[in-house]
Amino acid sequence: MTKIASKFACELASALADAKSPTNQPSDNVKDTIDRFRHALEAVGDTDDNQESRSTLPQDAADWLNEALGELNGTRSFNDAVAMAAKAAGWYQIYNDDAASDNTENSPMRDLASGMYAARLIGPHRGLVQSNQMLAGLFLLRKGLHYPLHQHQSTEIYFAASGTVQIQHDINGKPKTLLPGQVSLTPPNRLHALTMGDRPVLILWVWLGEFGGRNWWWHRQDSGDWRRDAWERSSDASWVKTASEQVPHSEIIALQSNDNQS
Ligand SMILES: [Fe+2]
Repeated sequence: MTKIASKFACELASALADAKSPTNQPSDNVKDTIDRFRHALEAVGDTDDNQESRSTLPQDAADWLNEALGELNGTRSFNDAVAMAAKAAGWYQIYNDDAASDNTENSPMRDLASGMYAARLIGPHRGLVQSNQMLAGLFLLRKGLHYPLHQHQSTEIYFAASGTVQIQHDINGKPKTLLPGQVSLTPPNRLHALTMGDRPVLILWVWLGEFGGRNWWWHRQDSGDWRRDAWERSSDASWVKTASEQVPHSEIIALQSNDNQS
């Protein structure tokens, strides 16, 4: 039996112990929250992988992955754990090619769907190790891709393994750079956006808390108003668009006043 997910969890827990968090404010209480993630990862223990979950990436994404793996700059055991996880995990396209959207609206999804892939290693339904408390895995993004403002109920961490990414928090937040070896914490329901640099980006991600429910994507219309689309995970871990609405002006004003205080 292999222990690829357990090794991944162990290496990520120890990398998080020293990781800087340049995208966060002190009020995010990063240290205590990261400790919670570390304990959850450590609780995986030396569990055996329960399956040989494997799926192939399309050739272009497989090339980004190889490029990203070639640039890992962690410890030998960290790099080995990430490379093993990347080979063993079942990769999937995170968002669909927007079958749920109508053709009259210019959806950001069409451009993005082919630029983002995830591989789940730990989670309730899919992955190498079963957990009802945590989702964890790998996230692969095409260079130059912009993943627009979105929000979800779960608490999320992104640990950068390879490539450089700019992370924006809140509606008018100034993007900050996340380098390999650093971590970004996203508290529940915080708007966040990612812009990749000139190399493919490989992230180790973990969600804790409420990981069902809607993932809202925000986009600004030509009129200056904001709309948001709700995406929900289906049982095969892909996402389906289930709602679309105008964001009330009062909500935008409240968010902008939060930004001004931070
Ligand atoms: Fe997120």
